[in-house]
Amino acid sequence: METKIFFRNQLDEAATLLKAGHLVAFPTETVYGLGADALNPEAVLKIFAAKGRPADNPLIVHVKEAEDALGLAFTNAKFYLLAKTFWPGPLTMVLPRKPIVPNVTTGGLDTVALRCPRNTIALELIAKANTPLAAPSANRSGRPSPTEAFHVLEDMKGIIAGVVDGGHTGIGLESTVLDLTTDTPQILRPGGVTLEMLREVLPETDFAVYHHGEKVKSPGLKYKHYAPKAPVYRVFGEPEKQLELILEQIKDNPTKKIGVLATSEYFSHYPTEHKISLGSRKDPMEIAGNLYSALRYFDSTDVEYILAETITGAGLKVAINDRLDRASGGRTLEDFLQDIRR
Ligand code: TXA
Ligand code: MG
Repeated sequence: METKIFFRNQLDEAATLLKAGHLVAFPTETVYGLGADALNPEAVLKIFAAKGRPADNPLIVHVKEAEDALGLAFTNAKFYLLAKTFWPGPLTMVLPRKPIVPNVTTGGLDTVALRCPRNTIALELIAKANTPLAAPSANRSGRPSPTEAFHVLEDMKGIIAGVVDGGHTGIGLESTVLDLTTDTPQILRPGGVTLEMLREVLPETDFAVYHHGEKVKSPGLKYKHYAPKAPVYRVFGEPEKQLELILEQIKDNPTKKIGVLATSEYFSHYPTEHKISLGSRKDPMEIAGNLYSALRYFDSTDVEYILAETITGAGLKVAINDRLDRASGGRTLEDFLQDIRR
C-alpha cells in the first residue's frame, strides 16, 4: 500500500479515506495518532493489525467538542466541568460507554476513553470525517510514540493509507488518562494535564493505586512501552552525582558502546560518541518535547547500552518519569553493572 502524505490544505482527501474505513495518522498536541472511524469495527480492527497491538488494549476516541460525548458515553457533571477547563487539550476522560461504540474500540470494556485534542488539524479532520476518530499513538507497539510525521513513516510506511504532516506535536508525551467511573477521579496515566491542575477543579483527584494481583484498570499500562532497541538504565541521585556515576561507567568500560540520555546542564561533559540532550532540568516542557525523538535517535546508532539521567519532581515531571521508567523497563545502574559483565 502506498502511504500518502497530506498537508493541512489537503484534509478533505484525508477525511475521505477515513470515511471509507482506511487508516490515516494525524498530529495532535501530544503525539501523532493513528486514526480510524471509531464507529466502524472493520476500520478499528485495522489499527490493531497495523500496530501489532493486543486486542484487549482499548483505544482513545477523539471528538471535536464536549457535546459530541453525549452520543458516545454517559456523561456527568465532573466531565463537563473538566471539559470546560481543559478541552481542547491533553486530557482523556473515561466514562461508561453507550452501545453505539463498538466492542473492538474499547477492547471489550464497558467504558470509553474520550479526548478533544488541542490541534487545529486534528479538530478539522474529525469535523470533515464527520465521525469520532479512534486513535492510539501512531507507532508500532513497543516503539516510542511519534512526535514528527517522519516518525510515523518510520513505523507505518506501506501499512497505512496516509499521514497528515503537521510538524512537531508540541507537548511530546501522551495525554493524561483520567477515570471518571470511580467515586473520586483517578489518574490512570500521567500527562500534560497534571495532578495539581486537576485538583484545582476537582480537589479529590488522585493517582490510581495498583495493588498486587488486582485487575489493571487501564490495560495499556501492563504492556512494555516506548522501548528503544538498546536497553535503557536510569541513574538516580543528586544531579551532580548522576553525572559522576555515568562518567565513571564510560571510563571503566572503554570497549562498550554506551549512549547517554543527558540534560543540557551536563551534556558537554560526557566523552561518548552517542549522546543526546533532552533539554534543561529547569524546563520540563522542553524535556517532554524531546524525549521520544531522543529515544528514536538511539535506534539509528549502534549503541549497546543507554544510561539516562533522571529528573524527579511534581507536575509534568511525573509524566516524564513515568515514560522513562517504562522505556527502561525499570532498569537502573545496578542492572547495568550486572549486564555489562555478561
Ligand atoms: O495523547 C494521547 O492520548 C495520544 C493521542 C494520539 O491522542 N493517544 C494515545 O493512545 O496515547 P494510546 O492508545 O497509545 O494510549 C491509550 C491509553 C492506553 O493506556 C489505554 O489502555 C488507555 O488509554 N485507555 C483507553 N481506553 C480506556 C478505557 N476505556 N479505560 C481505561 N483505560 C483506557
Ligand atoms: Mg501508545
